[in-house]
Amino acid sequence: MNKKLILGACLGLLFASCSTDKFEREIALVPQVKEMSPVRGVYTIKATTPVGYAQPDLLPAAELVSEMINRSTGWDIKPVNGTIQGINLSVDSMMPEKNGYTLSIDKESVEIIGQSYEGVISGIQTLRQLLPPAIELEKGLSRHNQITLPIIDIKDNPTYQWRGMMLDVSRHFYSVEEVKELLDWMSLYKMNKFHWHLTDDQGWRIEIKQYPLLTEKGAWRKFNSHDKSCLYYARHEDNPDFNIPEEHLKVVAGDTLYGGYYTQEQIKDVVSYASKLGIDVIPEIDMPGHFSAAIANYPNISCFNQAGWGNVFSAPICPGKDEVIEFCQNVYDEIMPLFPYEYYHLGADEVEKINWKKCPNCQKRIKDQGLKNEEELQSWFVHQMEDYLNSKGKKLIGWDEIIEGGLSETSTIMWWRSWVKDAVNQAAENGNESILTPNEYFYFDYRPDAGTLSKVYNFNPELDGLTPEQKDLIKGVQANVWCEWIPSQERLAYMIFPRMTATAEIGWGKKPGADFEDYKKRLMPHYDRWDLMSVNYRMPDLTGFHATNVFTDSAKVDVKCDFPHAVIRYTTNGRIPDENSLKYEGPISIDTTTHFIFRTFRPNGSKDEFVHTSYVKQSPAASSDVSKENMKQGLNLKSYEKQYKNCEDFTKGAKLLTDSNVDTIAIPEGASGHLGLMFTGYIEIPSDGIYTFKLLSDDGSRLYINDYLVIDNDGPHAPKEVVGQYAMKKGLHPLTLYYFDGNNGGSLKLQVLSPEGKELNDIFLN
Ligand code: ACM
Ligand code: ZN
Repeated sequence: MNKKLILGACLGLLFASCSTDKFEREIALVPQVKEMSPVRGVYTIKATTPVGYAQPDLLPAAELVSEMINRSTGWDIKPVNGTIQGINLSVDSMMPEKNGYTLSIDKESVEIIGQSYEGVISGIQTLRQLLPPAIELEKGLSRHNQITLPIIDIKDNPTYQWRGMMLDVSRHFYSVEEVKELLDWMSLYKMNKFHWHLTDDQGWRIEIKQYPLLTEKGAWRKFNSHDKSCLYYARHEDNPDFNIPEEHLKVVAGDTLYGGYYTQEQIKDVVSYASKLGIDVIPEIDMPGHFSAAIANYPNISCFNQAGWGNVFSAPICPGKDEVIEFCQNVYDEIMPLFPYEYYHLGADEVEKINWKKCPNCQKRIKDQGLKNEEELQSWFVHQMEDYLNSKGKKLIGWDEIIEGGLSETSTIMWWRSWVKDAVNQAAENGNESILTPNEYFYFDYRPDAGTLSKVYNFNPELDGLTPEQKDLIKGVQANVWCEWIPSQERLAYMIFPRMTATAEIGWGKKPGADFEDYKKRLMPHYDRWDLMSVNYRMPDLTGFHATNVFTDSAKVDVKCDFPHAVIRYTTNGRIPDENSLKYEGPISIDTTTHFIFRTFRPNGSKDEFVHTSYVKQSPAASSDVSKENMKQGLNLKSYEKQYKNCEDFTKGAKLLTDSNVDTIAIPEGASGHLGLMFTGYIEIPSDGIYTFKLLSDDGSRLYINDYLVIDNDGPHAPKEVVGQYAMKKGLHPLTLYYFDGNNGGSLKLQVLSPEGKELNDIFLN
């Protein structure tokens, strides 16, 4: 190892010595770099500093550097071919670490050597993070006649080669400029794969010349229920980020239509923009399900010549008809010249197979091909498409459902169903590679809360139960942004910042002992950078309270925010706080039940989301006088089948499936579908006091004790934890917990904490 390098801490202070650039800057790199020397002084970039590139292929990378400096300073630095005394870029493909780089800054020059073009870009992004945040702002450094960099040596490389972001442009449409901005954001954090979800039931977004109706009609819709709920949130949550951008609306024959699509030329432009940033683009044409935007306009590709919905998902295309296979291949024929990267995503998730059971063409295909069932028919279709892609030199990725019915030897699975815990193990046993996107961690359409960032950061891609060779089959991690409730670029930024940076750090690879606190500290200066980039980030969460907080006499409301520039405002009258609401200046003492709504404001005055918290005055609830004598450990669990929307009228119209005694509150093995669970029994409280309950569920849940609603986590939603408190006397208290799941793959967990904060177990009886 180079002696100058140490496996050092990533936080250091850089002091500028020149009077024109008075600043004190933290070295705060995200993702964390593998090796970094101490800072030994300052290098200055001037208007005369050239940017050299050793190999002609590096011209686009050199342009990135000169454009970044020129834009912020107003200078006119030009890239020059060759090695010069200034900022030098070169590739040395013999470097040992794939896509790694070194960045060496001394008094005379800045040297970035990458193992590949992508490695050079990663080095440039580290350089960018070493420059003052004002580098992000047009004319942000125009008063300066020089900029400083720390004299430092960095040696760095990615642990995982796949660090992806997926954007769904079907549920809401994003313009070419918006997609390019996302690519810029990704690049700053060394994210290198852009998965573009281009088609789905709600809109077809890519021009296919042979099938013009796909975009002429399939790219446009009247407002659907998601659009309407976005507009509802915009109004009822005082949040303009939920408005649908007017530029994507058009009026046709008196109807307002919403949508848009990319021409093939625009796609090429985006792919080339990404390539300059070292990002590969993976198109997804989701099939055989999620295809109704196409079926509505070419109905013959479905089993019964019409678009429609089955029990849960849309009716798929018909793999029994040869012309359907041809249709899909023709679509790919037009797409392949646009996307040079070898990987293509076929989707293959959430396929509703009821039509296939009834369709004579599908049944004939099953018989002719000697298939066992509709799962194998799905596999047969995926294999057909994979063979086709392979014949053109491309490789197939599919959502993890492609395991069902038989995985080919060569496909890569994208694991999204957190609840199918062994999906990656199954793939690995078959020798297939995986990309990790488990929804519980990496679905960035799920609304974040105070626990989200640490949860993402602490995801460990070294999954259990894999041999070292099988671990090598994990290509990396990716975050997916489904856009049903993300109609604007502002909302998109809000949902990915800062979570994307945690994903970046997992994928780049954390050093042993890296922890969330250190990451949070390193992240803090990035908020200043995002301010200058006009990124609508989510501010660090307010802490110091739960959804409900119980007190018996009086309480001190002590709200904290890690972000030093946050302005916190609040109300106690149920109104959403605005810029005129009371400013929170320090702890508030209360002695009556009070409902607070807190909201943070960014340094530029823009509003973050708001958060409710209730402080409830209670006397400890008396215990029940039932006898323990004939009770057994655990709870009674009744499971039901019904299309639940919430936990009200739980048993009404529901079919009882099971009735049994269970040890813990959890979803029983194998339970799925339109499911309701009702747990009843008693909770045994060891001493008088205020108890804390953490109830996590997907979808909704409610916890009642003594018929009092302790936690309301109801309604259809992604995994969400609600924390509340309840004061009780020692003894037995009757408890009921309701849970429902509206689709497949829910989650449910209850934790009970003593007044001292200790987790209590084995406290249920019935
Ligand atoms: C998915 O979320 N249906 C891949
Ligand atoms: Zn069919």
